[in-house]
Amino acid sequence: MTTVDRSADAVDVVPEDVTEETVTDAVVDSLAGTPDARLRELLSAVVRHLHAAVREVEPTMAEWEAAIDFLTATGQTCDATRQEFVLLSDVLGISALTENINHRKVAGATEATVLGPFHMTESPVRANGDTIDLVGGREPCVVTGRVLTTAGDPVPGAAVDVWQADENGFYDVQVPDLQPAGNGRGLFTTDADGRFWFTTVVPSFYPIPTDGPVGSLLAATGRHPFRPAHIHFIADAPGFEQVTTHIFVAGSRYLDSDAVFAVKRSLVRSFDAVDDAEGAARSGVANPYRHAEIDLVVQPAGGPA
Ligand code: BEZ
Ligand code: FE
Repeated sequence: MTTVDRSADAVDVVPEDVTEETVTDAVVDSLAGTPDARLRELLSAVVRHLHAAVREVEPTMAEWEAAIDFLTATGQTCDATRQEFVLLSDVLGISALTENINHRKVAGATEATVLGPFHMTESPVRANGDTIDLVGGREPCVVTGRVLTTAGDPVPGAAVDVWQADENGFYDVQVPDLQPAGNGRGLFTTDADGRFWFTTVVPSFYPIPTDGPVGSLLAATGRHPFRPAHIHFIADAPGFEQVTTHIFVAGSRYLDSDAVFAVKRSLVRSFDAVDDAEGAARSGVANPYRHAEIDLVVQPAGGPA
């Protein structure tokens, strides 16, 4: 408990009123002694912008209480496997904006996009050519790609972490009774030519979790909760900036209205239909199948800020 010295004489000062006009400066001034300069900058900006929003909308007390209740419920929905605040950040576009600011690319490098909450378990190490579809989905798909430098040179030995929802739009962790752990996931290593390849199923679009406060917010604003069909990738190689990205299935529903604002045109892939019995046999999938290709172009570590 903090010990307070009450022995000093009463101070003979008449304080200034803190008014609607002066409260913002008063709060920002109160932060002036923050030893960490960056923390001072962050907090001061948050206070100024929040106060500006309050001045703009002039909430009623009931509205202010509703906002507090919403944030309280958001916190109460978080647990070891559920992060409702990150989801809130996602649907408000803050995750996408922060990702874009922090991963500005040199020309030609693969664009980054949001990590999302389903990279919550380590992907099983797999060999190139393995399948990540452990349940035998309806629409087999071969995914091939390379990890390349911005000069077009292959990056051998790069780690390529992959995770995706299945054709019903669920990740393994969401439906442990229906999918074995590690379904839809794999950690691959590029070969001497920078190549990686695996088989899977064509993923489906899916809704982000809607059973918490973020779902209520989407409903209250008339927004749908869906993300277009995609496969997640993280490419990682020594000396290069790690890139966290997706490929999106061309033609998927919701490509033009992703609930988390993460679509980039450069990441949309055609997932072509292939009818080639020999190719199917070589890849160990049924014919016909689909094929998607992604080159993950990494920039040197410490690229543009
Ligand atoms: C995802 O793609 O896995 C995802 C991203 C943001 C929010 C919810 C899901
Ligand atoms: Fe996803």
